[in-house]
Amino acid sequence: MSKPLIEKAQKILLNNHQKGGFTIPTEKLYPFQWMWDSGFIALGFAHFDLEKAKSEINSILNAQWDNGFIPHIVFHTKADTYFPGPDFFQSELSEFSSKKFKTSGITQPPVFGFVLEKIYQIVDDKKDFLKFIKTQIDKVYFNHVYFYENRDVNNEGLVYIYHNWESGTDNSPLWDSIWKTMNPPDYKFVRKDTNHVDSTQRPTKREYDHYIHLLEIAKNYKYDDKKITEFSPFLVLDPLFNSILLKSNQSLINLYSIIGGEEKKIEFLENKQSLGINSLNKKLYDSKLGAYVYYDLRNSKKLNGISSSSFSPLFCGAPDERISNQLKKTFNKKFNLEDKYICASFDTLSENFNPKKYWRGPVWLNLNWILFHGFNRYGFIDISQKIKKDSIDLIENEGFYEYFDPTNKNDKNKKRACGSNNFSWTAALYLDFYKRGTKN
Ligand code: SER
Repeated sequence: MSKPLIEKAQKILLNNHQKGGFTIPTEKLYPFQWMWDSGFIALGFAHFDLEKAKSEINSILNAQWDNGFIPHIVFHTKADTYFPGPDFFQSELSEFSSKKFKTSGITQPPVFGFVLEKIYQIVDDKKDFLKFIKTQIDKVYFNHVYFYENRDVNNEGLVYIYHNWESGTDNSPLWDSIWKTMNPPDYKFVRKDTNHVDSTQRPTKREYDHYIHLLEIAKNYKYDDKKITEFSPFLVLDPLFNSILLKSNQSLINLYSIIGGEEKKIEFLENKQSLGINSLNKKLYDSKLGAYVYYDLRNSKKLNGISSSSFSPLFCGAPDERISNQLKKTFNKKFNLEDKYICASFDTLSENFNPKKYWRGPVWLNLNWILFHGFNRYGFIDISQKIKKDSIDLIENEGFYEYFDPTNKNDKNKKRACGSNNFSWTAALYLDFYKRGTKN
């Protein structure tokens, strides 16, 4: 293995950090602050510049809407290298939107609960960091309350996403069956992403028509959650999104217990925890597939496909012993293979698997990090260590890219780097893998 690239990883984060106190995921392709990126970025900064970690969290939570919603993009500054920008999203249509910042009107997986707790575990001066946590934790709690009050339509402790971008796994093949239920116009817009990276590694124009159509519908209803619940053609229970919410719930419970005097909030979260874990296992676990799946609420059916998200419930501790053993088997059969890096983002044995196309097959560092902690938690150390090694090897051999082609592992000359270079969360999670190892 080559020399650790600690300094290089730190430099990438520092270069992507902006004067306003937030960090962009990467130049040009993503020139603003993205929600779940900023959580992982804060975790990376916590290893060498705690003030920047704090400011990352503070700046995204500052853009919280009055109803507790946290937008997936905050347009702190102007940039013309990204579509759709603030003029398209028009967040001001919502009566609740941030009055301080222009933002998007969709969200992303709620990582901040577990990010605050993980950073608390890293820092030496816990007293000082707890002071910071006290200034932020209620915003995160309020965000969770928003989800349960507005997006848990069956009162089952599971919350929906109404846009594929909310999942974070933007163009997963799982959405293909939903796109077939829609027939959006052939919109005219100018994409910017394909100016910056190889267009064969990005979603197609027709896929973008669907993405834009969902946003037009939400805008038409002024981002009103009740209307979106009633009318959006995309209404999905996502195992990754819900596992992250559940993991963050538990972190909030743990942190509120340290702070003390917050019994009511803890009780609320504990109720959602048991309800949510129960429903996750009942509704989203598919024993025939041996994996968790997505549930399409609009069309009342499971979306039958296996992706890296299918194993994310290990991260929040939902599976019992039987399920966790089945998950391990499925993982070994489809993802833990001699000739592939772990973890492909989609079932490597499926005809829809595409090793270079965004979320249709490539390895992503944030999912690897989540699965590392998930398998580690259940004592599947052989797998968690392999995930860590593959993650580090990919970065040290290829660079700090956005995603990586997992195929033909034994071909040393193959180019696996995909998407954008100098990618912030790849750098941040490399630092965390290196500096913390298997400690939780
Ligand atoms: N990740 C999406 C994009 O590619 C939006 O969040 O633009």
